Amino acid sequence: MKGKSFGEYTEDFYREHKDMLLRSYPGLAPRRLKQELESFCLHYQINVDDLFESRFIPTLNSPISRFFEYLKRGYPLEYIRLRSYFYKSEFFVTPDVLIPRDETEILVECTVSEMKEWIKKTDENLRICDIGTGSGAIVLSAVQEIQRPVNAIATDISKKALIVAKRNYYNLRFKILKESSVHFIQTDRLKDIDEKFHVIVSNPPYIMESIDRNQVHDQVDQYEPHLALYLNDETYFEWFEKLFAQAYDSLLEEGVFLMEGHEDHLQKLADIAKKIGFTNVEVKEDYTSRDRFLIARKKWIN
Ligand SMILES: C[S@@+](CC[C@H](N)C(=O)[O-])C[C@H]1O[C@@H](n2cnc3c(N)ncnc32)[C@H](O)[C@@H]1O
Repeated sequence: MKGKSFGEYTEDFYREHKDMLLRSYPGLAPRRLKQELESFCLHYQINVDDLFESRFIPTLNSPISRFFEYLKRGYPLEYIRLRSYFYKSEFFVTPDVLIPRDETEILVECTVSEMKEWIKKTDENLRICDIGTGSGAIVLSAVQEIQRPVNAIATDISKKALIVAKRNYYNLRFKILKESSVHFIQTDRLKDIDEKFHVIVSNPPYIMESIDRNQVHDQVDQYEPHLALYLNDETYFEWFEKLFAQAYDSLLEEGVFLMEGHEDHLQKLADIAKKIGFTNVEVKEDYTSRDRFLIARKKWIN
């Protein structure tokens, strides 16, 4: 065989770009790189039998050349392979949505546990809302855990994100009770949503666009949607005050609001939630012991 085999090309590529690759993809080893490449080829219906033994012929704009170009640019692997693993499912993702994060799985667990509490208290269908749904990761993960009909609404201000979320709903439909439903609505937080919910959950944008930006990894800042990440510093707390007020109005008595937020701002946000009228306001930590979640309840006060 003349020229390099595909396996040799991949190994040489890894060696030449190792520092850069490890900066963008911590822990990436040659074996994993080959697995990613195989999976990428399968997506483009390229035969992977003997892939790494075959001769490599770089062709401009072929999917395989694009794969190596993406890696050189540090493009997130989830966007290269168009999928991400979150909680118990595989989600379709594009650069129009945030790549779901591990810590958000804690938010799903807490949401599911609140939904199960509600099941003990009521015979009604559960009604839940996910504000800023992105790929639909939170709402679709939570609804599939509940063996009672759930009527969910998922909002996002981004029309493109909702297209991705609807595709995930379609893909994961078989994991969800047929009596349950998820409606996706393009709106600002809960604007014009008149329904009342047992549980409202949100992982909103929560990074202050100037003060907190230096803590954001370059790869995230460069490739993930800014609409999903940043809020204006000056109007940051007003933005949340409005979110909390809308959530409070949209909750049933004893309903619960759960949110992911920024470690540096959650305590102040907890005070704002109390001012709005929420009770039992609690700040919860993530796996790295950082303040990460806010849980607030609407108690009926006579
Ligand atoms: C941090 S991402 C979370 C995405 C997804 N829920 C997750 O946890 O992976 C925030 C989402 O909120 C959406 N968003 C931003 N501003 C919004 C607003 N004013 N109203 C509704 N959604 C908004 C963004 O488009 C983005 O999809």
